[in-house]
Amino acid sequence: SRTLRVALLGAGSVGSQVARKLIDNRQELAARAGADLELVGIAVRDVDAKRDVDLPRELFTTDAESLILGADIVIELMGGIEPAKSYILSAVNAGADVVTGNKALLAAHGPELFDAAERVGAEISYEASVAAAIPILRPLRDSLAGDNITSVLAIVNGSTNFILDRMDRFGETMDEASKLAFEAGYLEADPTLDVEGYDAAQKVTILAGLAFHSQIDAGKVHREGISDITAEQIQAAQSAGYVIKLLAVAERLTTADGELGISARVYPALVPREHPLASVYAENNAVFVDAEAAGPLMFYGAGAGGLQTASAILGDVVSAARRHVAGGPGLNGSNHAALPLLPIDDVITKC
Ligand code: HSE
Repeated sequence: SRTLRVALLGAGSVGSQVARKLIDNRQELAARAGADLELVGIAVRDVDAKRDVDLPRELFTTDAESLILGADIVIELMGGIEPAKSYILSAVNAGADVVTGNKALLAAHGPELFDAAERVGAEISYEASVAAAIPILRPLRDSLAGDNITSVLAIVNGSTNFILDRMDRFGETMDEASKLAFEAGYLEADPTLDVEGYDAAQKVTILAGLAFHSQIDAGKVHREGISDITAEQIQAAQSAGYVIKLLAVAERLTTADGELGISARVYPALVPREHPLASVYAENNAVFVDAEAAGPLMFYGAGAGGLQTASAILGDVVSAARRHVAGGPGLNGSNHAALPLLPIDDVITKC
């Protein structure tokens, strides 16, 4: 079968897990993609830096541009705006498909990048940019494309959810809970991005764009963080039957003047205890979607972590590979598994 050349930009906590999986699961991924996926190189700033996982040294290079030019699929996991943006543009202009988890870049420059990709028939996929392992962007874009989404209520920042949850369930102060969140590695390098709601605002920009098939101006998204929330407010909410959550909300609304538009906002909200989002504990994320025909749906799971985010990246890589291989296994061709179906007596303890 065909071999597709995969270039990786960045080897941080997500990138190193992606590289490991591309190497270890090469056969399985090839069967699902319909093409062999060869990791041809990993571009980094410092070849000798200490990594989370062991990777073959000969894969590392500091020459990102050359790596990109020889690739069919480019995975961008460097983060930040530049040079990530220029590298993605080089990749699509060279005809490669791009997979990225770069929420800051997409929130700020998504439309420009998507236009560039569309002009040359390339695709940029970014399932990992919102809520890590939770498959949410493809359901919004594809599975619900025939429906009309009316609202998206989401917990998309794991560290602030962890902090608010510790304050709510364990009576900790914001400082105590923040310290634990920091130690667990949930916070961004600049914790202001989490605590002041910037990270969630980037994510709701991406969610709203897909849910409402619109270009959202990230600069106009209303944003409030959790830094002013006190233990007293948490207690008062609790006594009244609510829990305080940092919500990212995207809604289709009609104003009093009859104008139809989108509201996208991030703010600490009072969530009734009986709402499914109230029981999203610790650093987990959840996206609660309401659509005209489907009704309410909830997507729940890990919203951060190297391995979890790698899951979403690899899903996008397999999809990108399928696009390259005309007639590769789609929904009709993906059921050639070699594993037998077991008789239920072997696996189910009956009551
Ligand atoms: N700092 C982010 C969070 C990491 O707390 O959710 C995942 O985007």
